[in-house]
This record gives sequence, structure tokens and C-alpha cells, in this order.
Amino acid sequence: MCGIIGYVGKAEATPILLEGLRRLEYRGYDSSGIAVMNGSSDAPIQTRKRSGRLDNLRTLLTEKPAAGHCGISHTRWATHGEPTDANAHPHNDSSGRLALVHNGVIENYQVLKDHLEEDGHVFHSQTDSEVLAHLVGNAYDASNESDPQRRLVEAVREALHQVAGTYGIVAMHADAPGFLVGARFGSPLVVGLGKGEKFLASDVGAIVSHTTDAIYLRDRDLVCLTEDDFSIENVDGDQAEYEVSTVDFTPEQAEKGEYPHYMLKEIFEQPTSIQNAFRGRLIDDQASAILGGLQLTPRELRDVDRIVLCGCGTASHAAMVGEYLIEHLARIPTEVEIASEFRYRNPPLDKNTLVFVISQSGETIDTLAAMREGQRKGHRVLGIVNSVGSTIARESDGGSYLYSGPEIGVAATKSFTSQVTLLALLAILLGRMRHLSVDAGQQLLKELRELPAKVEKILLQSEHIRQIALKYLDAKGMLFLGRQFNYPTALEGALKMKEISYIFASGHAAAELKHGIIALVSEETPSVFIMPRDSVYEKNVSTLEEVKARKGPVIAITTEGSTELERIADDVIYIPPVSECLAPILAAIPLQLLSYHFAVALDCDVDKPRNLAKSVTVE
Ligand code: AGP
Repeated sequence: MCGIIGYVGKAEATPILLEGLRRLEYRGYDSSGIAVMNGSSDAPIQTRKRSGRLDNLRTLLTEKPAAGHCGISHTRWATHGEPTDANAHPHNDSSGRLALVHNGVIENYQVLKDHLEEDGHVFHSQTDSEVLAHLVGNAYDASNESDPQRRLVEAVREALHQVAGTYGIVAMHADAPGFLVGARFGSPLVVGLGKGEKFLASDVGAIVSHTTDAIYLRDRDLVCLTEDDFSIENVDGDQAEYEVSTVDFTPEQAEKGEYPHYMLKEIFEQPTSIQNAFRGRLIDDQASAILGGLQLTPRELRDVDRIVLCGCGTASHAAMVGEYLIEHLARIPTEVEIASEFRYRNPPLDKNTLVFVISQSGETIDTLAAMREGQRKGHRVLGIVNSVGSTIARESDGGSYLYSGPEIGVAATKSFTSQVTLLALLAILLGRMRHLSVDAGQQLLKELRELPAKVEKILLQSEHIRQIALKYLDAKGMLFLGRQFNYPTALEGALKMKEISYIFASGHAAAELKHGIIALVSEETPSVFIMPRDSVYEKNVSTLEEVKARKGPVIAITTEGSTELERIADDVIYIPPVSECLAPILAAIPLQLLSYHFAVALDCDVDKPRNLAKSVTVE
């Protein structure tokens, strides 16, 4: 939920840390700060921090520069304590000679803080992270170790053994210039191996412009860095194994390019990202799909008699489309579990139940916990993930990558359509092992290949959709309505609208309208119908008429050629024809553009909406 970056090398640390924070700001943007070590005796560690956006920190650093070749930095999504200067990281210990940044939640921080205060420690913030800084500083000051680097490592290890909760931390001490210690449990941390310089970051996007050689730390790993060397052990002091990976995207892919917002860039990347999701996975001569990463034999796949799909937010909506797809094409009972519920609900699962966790970031703590809960019960848990090397990707028992490229905008867009595409491939694969005919399989493969061009066609309507958005900016609320495969699409459309334009919106199965929701219909509450020409089209027309009869404005998303809707709907957005089961992939595009144009017109911060962050790594 926060972004961390540490640097040690020959260059000035401040510009590198600021650039890294800019690339991490989507992880949290309530406040930011840096601490730089310059080895001088009078002010060995210079700490600068400010509430609000990163520009506030830049301004401070212009007024009060911080020089040095080793430093740490942090951009915050507030968990404990409001976004104030004092609560911003880095935090120092009592001596002021230690600085630390933390991503995660120290659940037992209050009892630790009470003990430290009894010992005379004075705290300057309300955060749990400052408690960790004092714990490390306390252990450091009490140590008899003569070597400052080892002393800091031991102090970090001793402090971490006292905490309950999650952490991704980087710490440095004035006695050990040019030396960083990092550790993780439950929050991501990646090491960047530059030549004559080393990096630590919450995700690889912050350092990809400096190096593509990365080590994704695992839970309980502890790493020591100098500009020319590194070592990885675990918090118990044992040597730890690690693997050097090559980052799978370029710095340009992690930039906005000519787009005004990451979200718009990622919406317009969908012809490519959808293609990447099925590239190499369509097997024409079998009229089926291949997902080698599942690491399941045909026999094992054939024995699956129930599927559970877990995710949060948009990923849960993709999972819901997946439920309809798998039951429709493979006839396997499938259900969706909100990951944060699954981890506590203790649902009965028999041994032939296959569990999938779906996550763009691969770091969402509830989804991670759901995966570990399924594994604890002895189930094989597979991941459908975008971020290569993420915790879910590494800890799952197999799975498939989306290959969407980095998704920086907080609002998920291309990851949703790629997740649904992958779930369609899974449904085809499982279906063709059961009852799905060759002809039906071939038709679906053909339609999957046609999707990118159809998405391109919808994207050409962006200005038309913007004009529609401008008509309804003063909406008091919005309803999103769909049936069957597009009930989850309606939920997804509502979430997009809520999270970036802050308009209250709710998604519903369209027929539910008359069971209470229709009371919300009014001239100030537009309804968005996701109603392609499919098996329930006429039912949707009837529901639309019920809304119009109560003077509710209607925006209809429907299949090209359904011009009769122009007589009853206030606005119509057309999508190309496609099989009913693949329609959510196309229908999601107008919904993404609608919410985007609403947010821009309402002057909302599209890429960094209030109160949110891209990856929810705290509970
Ligand atoms: C969706 O637009 C939101 N950003 C949020 O609901 C997100 O889908 C959810 O937090 C899950 O994230 P994940 O896919 O990275 O696990």
C-alpha cells in the first residue's frame, strides 16, 4: 500500500529516490519523504518529508537540499495516523542516527510503543512504523557488536522478531555509511542489481530505468546492500536462496507517453494486452486452448469437479465472469469467493476442487491470504496474475500470467479484460475435455482472435463517450445494470465510476431493479444498461422501459445495429457483435471510457484517486 525505494551507489541519491517515488506514487500518495546519508559527522542523516503529493517534497528539497550517495525514501498510504509531515516516513530512532521506511502494518505496535515510552523513548508521530524505527535503534544501541554493519543487521533482526504483522522495510544507520538493510514479510521488496549501485524497491517499476537485473525477495528474507555487493539471509540468520530475474518490461512501458493519464494509456493498450493474454495459447487443431503454467496433466484437469475463483475488487468481477464462462462452456460447478471472505469463511471444499486466485498486482494481501488458506487445506491453488515475480506468482502452485505489461493507473482496466480473456481460455480448455464440440471451440478461438480489432473499433468512440459523460456530470448517483454474463460487467462499471469520479454508483442484475432498486430511479440518477443483443436482450429492453417510465435517463451499451434503442434510450454506445460469453470483454471498454471522461471532466485525479492505492498490501 506504500512505496519504498532505497539507493546506494556513486551517484547523488536524492534525484534517484525522487524519480523512484514518482514511479511508485500510485502505491500511495498521502505523504512522502527521503533520508540521505552523507557520512559527515555533524548531520550524517538528512531527513526531509512532507504531507501531500510528491511535489511538496520536491519543493522542500529545493529549499533544503539533501546530499549523499546512500538513501531511503517512501510514499505513503496512511494506515495509522493522518497524512501529516510528522507521520510521513522515513522515521528516526531516538538518536536520530537511524532512519527507516516501512510498508505494512505492525499489529502489536501499541504494546511495543508503551514499553518503549516507559523506557523513555519519545515519539513524534502516530504511526506504527516509528515504533519499528525505535525498536531497531534500541537494539542497535544495546548491542556489543563492534562492526556497525553487523550491528545494524542484528538490530533489525532482533526488532523484527518482536513484531506481529507485515513489513517491507529499508533501514540505514549513520555509523554504517553506504550500507542498507532491507527485509520483508507480507509486503513486497525487490533488489535491483546495478553496476556499482544497488537498489531496493516495493516494485520493480521504480528501478527498471537503472537495471533490469532483479531479485524478488521472499517472506522472511533479509538483504544487506553496499554499492558493490549484496547478501541475502533470512531473519533467523541462515543463508537464503535467491534467483536473479530479468525485468520483463521497459521503462517506456511504465511511462504515460503521449497520454494525459496512465488510465487512458492502459485503456488504449487493450487491443495489445488482450492479444498478449491469448498469444501462443490457442490450439487450432484441437479447437482448444493451452495453459501450460497450470502444471496440471489432462487427467488431473479431467478430475476437477468444482472450481473456486478468488479475488478482490475488479479481479472478483473478472472471476464472476469466469464463473459464467466455466459453467457455460465446461459445465463444472464454479463459484466466486471474495478473497477477504474466503480466508475466514472456511467453506467446505472437497479434494477435487481447484482453487484459483486472481490478482493484477499479485500482492493483494487478502488474495494472498486466500491462496495460503487454500494451500493450508491441501488444495492446489493456481494464480492468474499480471506482475511477474510477485508473491502470488511465486507462491502459487502454478498459474498463468496476463502479460498485460505494467498497469499503473489505480483503476484496473486492461487487467480486467485480460483476466476475463484468460478465464475464457480456461473455460475452453476444460470444456473441450468434456462436452464442448470442435465446432464450438473453433468458433470461440476465431472470436478471441477478432477481439483486438473489435476493441480498436470501440476505442474510436472515445469522443462520443466523452460527450455523453458531459451530459450527466451533475448525476446524484448512477445505476449499472446487466444480465447473465453482463451482471459482473455492471458491477465493474459501477466500481470504475465510484473509484475515479467519486459518484455513488451501484451495479445490479437488471431484473433486481423491481425488487427495491427502482426506488432510486429519478431524473438525477442515470442508468447504464449493458445490453448487447443476446439471449436476454428483450428482457433488458423491458427493464429499460421501466426506468424510462419513471423519467430515469438511460445510457445503453448494445450491439451495432440495435438502432431501435435510440428511440427509448437517451444515449447509445455500440459495440461490435460477439458471442454472449465474450461480450464482457467488449462491454467493459465503454464503461472504462465513461468513468474516465467523467473523472477528467470533474477534475478528479484519475491515476491517483483519493483514499486509494494500486495495490492493497495491508488489511
Ligand atoms: C480496481 O479498479 C481497483 N484498483 C481494486 O478494486 C483492485 O481491483 C483490487 O484491489 C484487486 O487488486 P489486484 O488485482 O492487484 O489483486
